[in-house]
Amino acid sequence: MPTTPLPGIDTVRVAVRVRPFSQREKNSGSKCVISMHSRTTTTIQDPKNPEHRKTFTFDLAYWSHDGFQKDKDGVFISADPSSQFASQKDIFHDLGRGILDSAWQGYNATLLAYGQTGSGKSYSMVGFGANKGIIPNVCEELFQAIEKREGNQEYQVTFSMLEIYNEQIRDLLSRTKKPERLKVREDQQLGFYVDGLKSVPCENYAQIERLMEQGTKIRTTASTNMNASSSRSHMVITIQFKQVFLDRDLTKQSSINLVDLAGSERQKSSGSEGDRLREGSRVNLSLTNLGIVISALADAAMGKKVLHIPYRDSVLTKLLQPALGGNSRTTLIAAISPADICYEETLSTLRYAERAKKIQNKAVVNTSMLMREAEAENNKVLLACGNSRMAELPACLLADQSLGWQTGQVTWAHQLEQAREEWQQQYLAIAQERQMMETFPHLLNVNEDPQLTGVLKYFIQAGSCDAGRAASNAIPLLGLGITDKHASFTNVDGKVTVTPHSKCKVVVNGVPITTTTKLQHLDRVILGSSSAYLYIGFPSERGSEDLNRFDYDFFQLERAAVEGVSMDKLGAMSHGDGMADPSVLAVFQDYVKLMPLVAEANQMGEELEKGLRMELKVKNLASSDSRGYDLQKEVMVKVTNQRTQEVWIWSKAKFINRKFLMEELYQRFLEGEDSHVAQEDDPFWDPVEAVHLGSAHVWLQPLAYCMKLEEQVEFLSCDGTEEAMLHIHVTPCSPAGQACSEEDVVIDTAELLGKRMDFQIGLVRCLGIKWLKEGAERGIQMGYRMYDLSSTFYTKPVWKTVNPQIEETVQFTALNASQDFLNYLQTNALIVDLWGLQEGCAQLSCSQPDLMVTSEGHVMVDTKKISALVDTGQTTSDQTSELYMKLFKLEQETEQLRNVNRALREENVLLRQALEKIGSPQQAHEPSDALKVTQRTAHLLAARAKNDRPAPPAASSDRELTDALKIFYQSMNTARGRFLRLRHYKPPEDDRMLRPFVYQQSQRLRDVGELLDRSLQRLRSDVARIAKEKRACLLHPQQHPQADGLPQVCEERA
Ligand SMILES: Nc1ncnc2c1ncn2[C@@H]1O[C@H](COP(=O)(O)OP(=O)(O)OP(=O)(O)O)[C@@H](O)[C@H]1O
Ligand SMILES: [Mg+2]
Repeated sequence: MPTTPLPGIDTVRVAVRVRPFSQREKNSGSKCVISMHSRTTTTIQDPKNPEHRKTFTFDLAYWSHDGFQKDKDGVFISADPSSQFASQKDIFHDLGRGILDSAWQGYNATLLAYGQTGSGKSYSMVGFGANKGIIPNVCEELFQAIEKREGNQEYQVTFSMLEIYNEQIRDLLSRTKKPERLKVREDQQLGFYVDGLKSVPCENYAQIERLMEQGTKIRTTASTNMNASSSRSHMVITIQFKQVFLDRDLTKQSSINLVDLAGSERQKSSGSEGDRLREGSRVNLSLTNLGIVISALADAAMGKKVLHIPYRDSVLTKLLQPALGGNSRTTLIAAISPADICYEETLSTLRYAERAKKIQNKAVVNTSMLMREAEAENNKVLLACGNSRMAELPACLLADQSLGWQTGQVTWAHQLEQAREEWQQQYLAIAQERQMMETFPHLLNVNEDPQLTGVLKYFIQAGSCDAGRAASNAIPLLGLGITDKHASFTNVDGKVTVTPHSKCKVVVNGVPITTTTKLQHLDRVILGSSSAYLYIGFPSERGSEDLNRFDYDFFQLERAAVEGVSMDKLGAMSHGDGMADPSVLAVFQDYVKLMPLVAEANQMGEELEKGLRMELKVKNLASSDSRGYDLQKEVMVKVTNQRTQEVWIWSKAKFINRKFLMEELYQRFLEGEDSHVAQEDDPFWDPVEAVHLGSAHVWLQPLAYCMKLEEQVEFLSCDGTEEAMLHIHVTPCSPAGQACSEEDVVIDTAELLGKRMDFQIGLVRCLGIKWLKEGAERGIQMGYRMYDLSSTFYTKPVWKTVNPQIEETVQFTALNASQDFLNYLQTNALIVDLWGLQEGCAQLSCSQPDLMVTSEGHVMVDTKKISALVDTGQTTSDQTSELYMKLFKLEQETEQLRNVNRALREENVLLRQALEKIGSPQQAHEPSDALKVTQRTAHLLAARAKNDRPAPPAASSDRELTDALKIFYQSMNTARGRFLRLRHYKPPEDDRMLRPFVYQQSQRLRDVGELLDRSLQRLRSDVARIAKEKRACLLHPQQHPQADGLPQVCEERA
């Protein structure tokens, strides 16, 4: 029984550590958003709003981002004395020493590492290579201190290592073939403990090193076999340290828990947002619950009334109960990335740490009276072991923490003896493995988690050997998609080859192989769906190369490149500065990250006979918004049922969620359990929905001049291929729905400002729908949104027709056309979406909660002021380059021409006034309004010439200008359409096709260029001619008489 001195209040200590940029972050030109101005403050800056900074104060802030160099042993040290760089030693000095001090005093101590995947948790806790982390340093220093101690004391150290994945506990030190599932039990005195967990007595640091190596190996094998990412599991190392003061009949005991938590961001990305199935299950339960417990404790510490702390709701929180609000001194290290791209995650980590900082613990020194306790414990042991023979006693003790640590000296000696025997066997095995590595070519595993890379080694000895799932193989390999006899390796005459068996998947250097292939030193081999290995050749082939270069990313990038996925394909280099567009880079990274996951999901589906094919796609790869700018790209997964041809589109989050659930199901299948699930619980199934097939852009500019538009436009899919053609009419009309005539066309959109505008959108027909060609039973619907209306207008579904007649028209009315609306018409396109319907799916319908209609029943638009047009902040991409600039220039010139026209009108008025002065005085009182005057100038002049004959109809040079502009806008419309297609016209993957592609590309470019030039030239000459004729007509009306006496310029042109 622990004697209980009065507990002091210990708040949780919190440290933040920021790591250097990763290679990926460097490649993408990331910016650092973290700064640390003192030893305790961490400031984070919002990359989207740099003015917005938030400063957090913690017990310690470690800057490990820069200001370091590598010493001769590969250890990172400060580059110069002024550098604020915090090395592994510094971290250990502050945090590790604190833990050791607590342990020596008899307090329990806990260190938790929290942060998103790749933020540096394992680096701080375990370390890499020469840069040893806190755990090895704590262990090493503990034994060094023990060795230095003198006096009548004995020290007992035991070590255990476990992993929590999906709420299951794996003993990382147990080498049984089929790991049992360990349970957490509760003891009145001891609290929660893991029943049956192996806890190994250690005498020196070397033994702990070996145990950690062994634990990592088991973790790696498990992660490879189950295809579970290690970043989703929590690793808990527990060191029990007992000091026995023989002369004082006293023991002091400390339990040191070192916890490397699962990557925190998974909580969100695996969220079941938008998925009908529950969240990717218990994978995150422990982490989520840890957050809840921490928040509840923080609230309690702040004086809020908290009724219940849900420790019992997850495995992790049960085990960490003493560390959180209990009998332990606890430290949290929040690992953060410096990169702007991780801003959200980092901020959330810092907030989490801020809550944890408030937690108050009540740590006490754990002392007990030696003899009495030992006696009591031994009795318990005997009782627990029942009739077991005495010889088995130590093992029994070892295996059961619940019986406490107060075993007598004899038992301890016995345990040590047993552990020593195990060491010896292991030393032999390790020495043998080292020797084989020196001698034979071999495969080294490459894991997503750098901690688990290079842990498994498979030797290719002389002759031929098989590799596969069956235990009888010389190289027994487990992993998704690996068959019983998967491939064979030969090592003959100094050459190593690999041959896949029948249809087994083997990829060498990114290329799938089907025949015998020779391996070269450092070749990358992928077996099954995603088990990656680096081939290490014969000793004679090896040099001093850096193997770290060949990490998991390297394998995936190589595979992506072979599959034709690259940054260029995604259109990344869109900034003029040659830097990759960060959003495209993020998509590319997602793509590469999801590639192996999709391969795994396909493999699981295949083994479970689901008949599905999953493919990665990039949403909006070649799509533009209504202004022609590229849309935000994102990765999605297209799922096709190969039998029924049903199609689903899953978002990245949904796919990740489903993948967790698939893994659970697959695991049951592997373990021979019933893997049948009801359809509604099947992660491979969903009710069918309408699928977005593509979008068509219809530029609305003619409408801004009251011109009718009749177009055939293409529906382009997300990757820019033609899905169908749309025949559409956009017709300006009267309130009664009568189409406007040529007479109503305006030269200046300003003339429409504040007026009522009516127009009809008529979807006439759809032609050559690919979706229907692929599945005759399918159907389609179309949908579009107009200006400021939030609802989408859908056409009625049409089934089983490749070229359906639609004939659906909606009339819209702007009662009081605003400048914003007119601007919108000038610069935006109407986007019509094509939706694919499949048997059993619900049709799309328009919910119109806020739709207003006119008294005639037309839909009202432009009802509220739009403060800012969408996407105004976007800059043009480099694809907009020359042609787009040309287009822009043309629009500017049109504006100038309009100004010229305005100036001409004004001049007109002046001339008229001048003429009036010469002519009859009463005519000087004609309307003063400039516009009115302009329209009537010609008539007045004509009237003068005809000696007060009645005014002729309103045909004028303005009309000619209108016609010229009309032709111009129509050409512009065509040019815009072609230009948009051109931007998304991607080169073929096949190199041989490149030449015709380049040829076609340049033809298209020339075509668009010529079209633009022609239109402009024509407009210029038309306007110049009209202006000239107008001027001549005004100045010398008598020289331009016509048969009826009208000036020539007023003649209608065909
Ligand atoms: N302080 C640091 N100095 C140098 N490199 C670091 C540092 N912290 C992390 N790294 C590197 O960053 C990478 C990711 O670190 P680490 O594996 O520790 O992340 P993690 O938080 O444990 O991720 P996961 O949740 O996936 O386990 C590793 O390659 C590691 O070497
Ligand atoms: Mg890690």
